[in-house]
Amino acid sequence: MSTLIGNVGSLVTNDPSHGSGPLGLLTDAAVLIEDGRIAWVGPAAEAPAADGHVDAEGRALLPGFVDSHAHLVFAGDRTAEFNARMSGQSYTAGGIRTTVAATRAATDAQLEANLTRFLTEALRQGTTTVECKSGYGLTVEDEARALRIAAKHTTETTYLGAHVVAPEFKEDPAAYVALVTGEMLDACAPHARWVDVFCEQGAFDGDQAREILTAGMARGLTPRVHANQLNHGPGVQLAVELGAASADHCTHLTDADVDALASGDTVATLLPGAEFSTRAPYPDARRLLDAGATVALSTDCNPGSSFTSSMAFCIAVAVREMGMTPDQAVWAATAGGARALRRTDVGLIAPGARADLLLLDAPSHVHLAYRPGVPLTAAVWRDGVRAV
Ligand code: NIG
Ligand code: FE
Repeated sequence: MSTLIGNVGSLVTNDPSHGSGPLGLLTDAAVLIEDGRIAWVGPAAEAPAADGHVDAEGRALLPGFVDSHAHLVFAGDRTAEFNARMSGQSYTAGGIRTTVAATRAATDAQLEANLTRFLTEALRQGTTTVECKSGYGLTVEDEARALRIAAKHTTETTYLGAHVVAPEFKEDPAAYVALVTGEMLDACAPHARWVDVFCEQGAFDGDQAREILTAGMARGLTPRVHANQLNHGPGVQLAVELGAASADHCTHLTDADVDALASGDTVATLLPGAEFSTRAPYPDARRLLDAGATVALSTDCNPGSSFTSSMAFCIAVAVREMGMTPDQAVWAATAGGARALRRTDVGLIAPGARADLLLLDAPSHVHLAYRPGVPLTAAVWRDGVRAV
């Protein structure tokens, strides 16, 4: 069964061989999907025959968003903390423990219901690939169950036992690092693709982060790092040195950090929802792009520092506040996210790629920044199936 999406006014392929510029833009285009994959892309006038037809009515079609950084296995709510912050209090990593208590108290069914609610919310807004971290359990059992639950819904699962030191180990962080690199890793590695650490004052220092990431790598996990969010620190340099897939946040960077990201393979994943919701200065995307770094945009969706699942919101903020052009921001939210997850089958519309597509209720992808806060989803396909 094949479906032709025709009369596409503006098509973002992210494949420069298919159209103009880094977005590989085509106008008056069509896309053929078959068996969950893209089968053909080109000018509407040359479209092949198909079993079914969808008229895009001149609207913009782009790859589904790839949200490469989210914390969606949790229970509870931190409205009061957000409210206090917007009344002048500052953000600290300590709030994570509030969510840890609620998450530990929740049943598996409650955690999975929460997760699917957020995944559905994201899908309705055009997000077709989501990475999901543990990190609100902080016991062997609670971290393993978070990953077991996440793995039922995404292949992009990340072991974040090193989110903060578990409250029980407050007086003995070294013992917690031993747990994270030992028994907890044993229980979690079978359900995870990635290993992550929150390398930050109040969480884990550079030496601890190195120990945790290398232990994960020895178990076949690939590293990614929460780096340089609240302060300058060793996270970015460590990420690049270890060949991490991405360094996430990148809010406080030295010139040496920028150079390291520009010369290595590590993607700089920027999370503007976190700066928005903690009232912090935004990361400087322009500085990273000018230096030649690869930039991804992601939501960081979590109940504490960034409770948004909207990639469109992140694009709008990145354009308005972080020096990105609309084209760069849309690339970062699609192809950039795919790079950060080392995926070649998503984040683009080209033959062989997964048929993960977002049809906008707008004539151009630029409207994602031009019309901030406006729901623009007209349709979403995931694996070739119309999901919205
Ligand atoms: O990415 N930075 C660490 N972890 C999350 C915050 C989690 C929380 O506050 O609950 C983040 O911003
Ligand atoms: Fe995060």
